[in-house]
Amino acid sequence: MPSGQPLWPLHEPEPRCPTSTLTFRPLSGPAPARPPVDTVPALLHRRAFHFRGQSMISAVLPTYNRAPLSFERGEGAWLYAEDGRRYLDLGAGIAVNALGHANPALTEALTAQAGKVWHLSNLYRIPEQERLAEMLVDRTFADTVFFTNSGTEAAELAVKMARRYWYDHGRPDRTRILTFEGAFHGRSSAAIAAAGSEKMTKGFGPLLPGFTQLAWGDQEALEKVIREPDVGAVMIEPIQGEGGIRTLPDACLKELRALCDETGALLILDEVQCGIGRTGRLFAHEWAGVTPDIMMVAKGIGGGFPLGAVLATEKVGSVMTVGTHGSTYGGNPLGCAVGAAVMGIVSDEGFLAEVRRKAGLFRQGLEGLVASRPDVFEGVRGTGLMLGLKTKVAPADFVKAGYDAGILTVPAADNVVRLLPPLNIPDEDIAEALRRLDQAASSLKAA
Ligand SMILES: Cc1ncc(COP(=O)(O)O)c(C=O)c1O
Repeated sequence: MPSGQPLWPLHEPEPRCPTSTLTFRPLSGPAPARPPVDTVPALLHRRAFHFRGQSMISAVLPTYNRAPLSFERGEGAWLYAEDGRRYLDLGAGIAVNALGHANPALTEALTAQAGKVWHLSNLYRIPEQERLAEMLVDRTFADTVFFTNSGTEAAELAVKMARRYWYDHGRPDRTRILTFEGAFHGRSSAAIAAAGSEKMTKGFGPLLPGFTQLAWGDQEALEKVIREPDVGAVMIEPIQGEGGIRTLPDACLKELRALCDETGALLILDEVQCGIGRTGRLFAHEWAGVTPDIMMVAKGIGGGFPLGAVLATEKVGSVMTVGTHGSTYGGNPLGCAVGAAVMGIVSDEGFLAEVRRKAGLFRQGLEGLVASRPDVFEGVRGTGLMLGLKTKVAPADFVKAGYDAGILTVPAADNVVRLLPPLNIPDEDIAEALRRLDQAASSLKAA
């Protein structure tokens, strides 16, 4: 470039595609002749193939260690593989398929909405979004809801909301958020910084500052650190999922609420995995009889459709004024129509009582299984249908043995295998699950 010429010219750039070569369809009269339909796609195809031939990386970015299983359909708690085998799904898409696969009520809600309007953007009112927000507000501590597409996005907003709250209340220094070892809040830059584990953060620095991880259960440290003047919030999962189905005892959650009240720190609960009926209450914190200031929700709320939400009290939510946050897809009509169908079923007290009954049945069976296989299992943990088997073998080995026995489970930290069946799993499938878990255990020897 000749010296003296500005790098960012202020005049309009030349059009990349010269207008003289563009052919516009006239508003009336016959359509102009089209080029042969396969010209451009054929070229693109050759390019994609050419590049893939040169590289070793899979077409799907290889960030997952996937099992060699591929399913073509699901029904209730069952998944059917391409080779015709069926698997009892105790993972439910990691606590997502709360009402099982291909649930008729959800399919009906999705297809009915698909025939009306899929997407609008938040430039307009979205009746399905307003309806779901009202359902959530009616049934929880919250006064207001923002919809996201995932749990990670909910974490992002929760962090922003907490910081904005203190900024608006004249304490912009209260940016620090206390989190806990073993936590999982998602994979965005804020979410990995919040969790803080080396496994998630290594190589991704500089990390978003302002998080301090405390040891799980270290009350003394919590009581000391929460009183430090820059602490603005505490973020915690009432039951750690990825961390190994570790339940925060009700007394601790109550104590945490009391500490937050005393210091003014906001209490952010991450109910992405443990919420939406999973524990036998609509939200896990209800067991402790306390409420948060902000809550993150996702997974089960969409029953398999990508949907998440941040719920907040008016006091906190009102700091998020026009322009402070947004999402193209968040709160879209499809997701919210399905979410309303999920909420309509899951928030019913009769349904939740059934979850608790099924959970009791399953847990009793699991206690028996653990007692009969002391070489493989150490114990059962969790609440409701968010259960974990603490194993003496490597959890990944047990999960693999489960594939051979036709049952799907999910490994977690702390030597735990997660059992997260659909909330409406029939009793006979619970009995079958116990048989298959036993079969998987019998094929393993203690490490
Ligand atoms: C407790 C918790 N928070 C946040 C997330 C992130 O949610 P997502 O994967 O939908 O972004 C997860 C996902 O497993 C989770 O379990």
